[in-house]
Amino acid sequence: MRIETIAVHSGRSIDPTTGAVSAPLHLSTTFERHSDGSFPRGFEYSRDDNPNRRSLETCLAALEGGVAAVAFSSGMAAISASIEALQIEHKGRLVLPRDMYFGIRPMLAETAFGRSIDTVVVDMADLAAVEAVCRAAKPGIIWIETPSNPLVSVVDIAAVAAIGRAHGAAIAVDNTWATPVLQQPLQLGADLIVHSLTKYIGGHSDVMAGAAIVREHGTHHDELRAIQRHRGVLASPFDSWLALRGIATLPARMAVHNANALAVASFLETHPAVAKVHYPGLPSHAGHEVATRQMRGYGGMVSFEVRGGEREAMLVAATLGIFTRATSLGGNHSLVEHRASVEGPETTAPPSLLRLSIGLENAADLIDDLSRALRSI
Ligand SMILES: Cc1ncc(COP(=O)(O)O)c(C=O)c1O
Repeated sequence: MRIETIAVHSGRSIDPTTGAVSAPLHLSTTFERHSDGSFPRGFEYSRDDNPNRRSLETCLAALEGGVAAVAFSSGMAAISASIEALQIEHKGRLVLPRDMYFGIRPMLAETAFGRSIDTVVVDMADLAAVEAVCRAAKPGIIWIETPSNPLVSVVDIAAVAAIGRAHGAAIAVDNTWATPVLQQPLQLGADLIVHSLTKYIGGHSDVMAGAAIVREHGTHHDELRAIQRHRGVLASPFDSWLALRGIATLPARMAVHNANALAVASFLETHPAVAKVHYPGLPSHAGHEVATRQMRGYGGMVSFEVRGGEREAMLVAATLGIFTRATSLGGNHSLVEHRASVEGPETTAPPSLLRLSIGLENAADLIDDLSRALRSI
């Protein structure tokens, strides 16, 4: 089946009791035991397994072409659990990209688990630098995020995975920004994928959840499942239900996000008040060729630098009307954020940069809004 069909059908069945086409929400925390003590219907206690979470996990594994998915309470829960699980068999340094979701840094600095990890940061667009880092000290996990947050830079997954694999590292990819509709990292050599389901997969800014998807069964998958169940960091039934509902429209929504973002990025690139646009769909973008090869569409995230500095960027953000000043991304509603002030001193975002999450509104209205706001500087 093709991805649009998987997105609508995988993990679902007609409810045998009522014939409901949309799956019921199973809020029950506990399930009936048979008189012989067994659980013939497959569920015992909702922390261990739940029908809505199982449906979501089945669908996510099918979308990414993995053997299993494990759904967590947030993207960060999935990221921490994945690093912990992969480390068991892949001891060595955690190799991180220079530009990545900034929440990983406080997790590494402010939790005992994070502080126990030996990390090294590298520009993953520079394959020679990745090779050098791997030669310098044994890599345990290569962590890839592409397109990256907030600079929308592109990493050649197959090339970095080949280098990492040659040095015995596990390859993990945060596929949140691309989604399985645009990019399939397991086919490009990744061992594990993480998602913040909070973003495009939920798609409406009303779900907080995450997931890890594995290419093969093994110790790392067993550990992910153990962390999910025994620490209780799991996607709730309602979040699972909403995320699965979001998946049904994900391919259709991504087509609109792609088209709108390309239109907005093309407009910004020609605007005299704009110094630089970061969008891999533009031929001027450093990662355009790699993105064209490894993605089907360039996604809905656009960052741009205004001429001037923080003051001008803030003025544009303050003047926008359709774009809402808010964090997060991947919803139907367009958002704008000044990442440098959100991320603090370690940010990779210049002070003049605004990050746009391009929503599902009409592209011409988004462009009119930006055009009006850019006149304010
Ligand atoms: C690429 C990426 N990964 C992970 C996360 C974290 O997800 P969550 O907020 O669901 O924990 C984010 C959040 O913005 C993100 O952009």
